Amino acid sequence: MEQTKNEEILRMTNICKDYEMGGEILHVLKNVDLTVEKGEFLAILGPSGSGKSTLMNIIGCLDVPTSGHYELSGRTIADETESALALIRNKEIGFIFQSFYLLQRQSAAQNVELPLIYAGMPERKRKERVKEVMEKVGLSDKMDHLPNQLSGGQQQRVAIARAVANNPSILLADEPTGALDQKTGQAVMDLFHSLNDEGRTIIMITHDRKIAGHAKRIVRILDGIISEGDVEDA
Ligand SMILES: Nc1ncnc2c1ncn2[C@@H]1O[C@H](COP(=O)(O)OP(=O)(O)OP(=O)(O)O)[C@@H](O)[C@H]1O
Ligand SMILES: [Mg+2]
Repeated sequence: MEQTKNEEILRMTNICKDYEMGGEILHVLKNVDLTVEKGEFLAILGPSGSGKSTLMNIIGCLDVPTSGHYELSGRTIADETESALALIRNKEIGFIFQSFYLLQRQSAAQNVELPLIYAGMPERKRKERVKEVMEKVGLSDKMDHLPNQLSGGQQQRVAIARAVANNPSILLADEPTGALDQKTGQAVMDLFHSLNDEGRTIIMITHDRKIAGHAKRIVRILDGIISEGDVEDA
């Protein structure tokens, strides 16, 4: 993947997200400004309830902000139709979650193939691509295993293979090591490093300062407010 220096991949300006609960308004994101460039490895670090997943859902076009401006790959997200957004989620963003979200009745290879089917890739190309990404995550020998025949770390690597299958511009990970022990989590971080070395943009959300330390840039979120850089009391 070619890497262009200082090319913006996303820009958020003045993003607010409110939830209404029993007549009361909860301000979850407060005037968030965030710019991410191509090829960055960014961690968004914050404690439980600070608004991380809410922010991730907006970055990933799974939810819309209450107010503010969001541009992804040069497109104003508020102007896009739902079907255009589905296409953006499929092609531009690779999602990785704490609990993997693999389909339990499908093999590892079938799980990885799914987003390629949605993207309309012909079968022969699909099979090739699945082999390629399963190799990349070190699981070429586990193609036919069902998720419950794999360890947690292996399941997360399948989820990562699925996330990169369509060659997305951004990998978006929410607590990717949250369900893993330290050693397995380290292996997942090694994989993130090698994906980032290939020029892939990674945005990783975590409450874990050690995990955030793998990123090249850390942005903190506290009570819905973003601030640049790490601080001692994280
Ligand atoms: N759909 C919703 N309706 C109402 N309130 C919500 C909703 N989603 C999230 N919240 C509230 O918004 C705040 C931020 O939630 P969020 O899930 O973004 O936190 P988080 O930083 O991801 O936390 P964690 O580390 O525990 O995953 C919380 O107070 C939560 O209760
Ligand atoms: Mg969360």
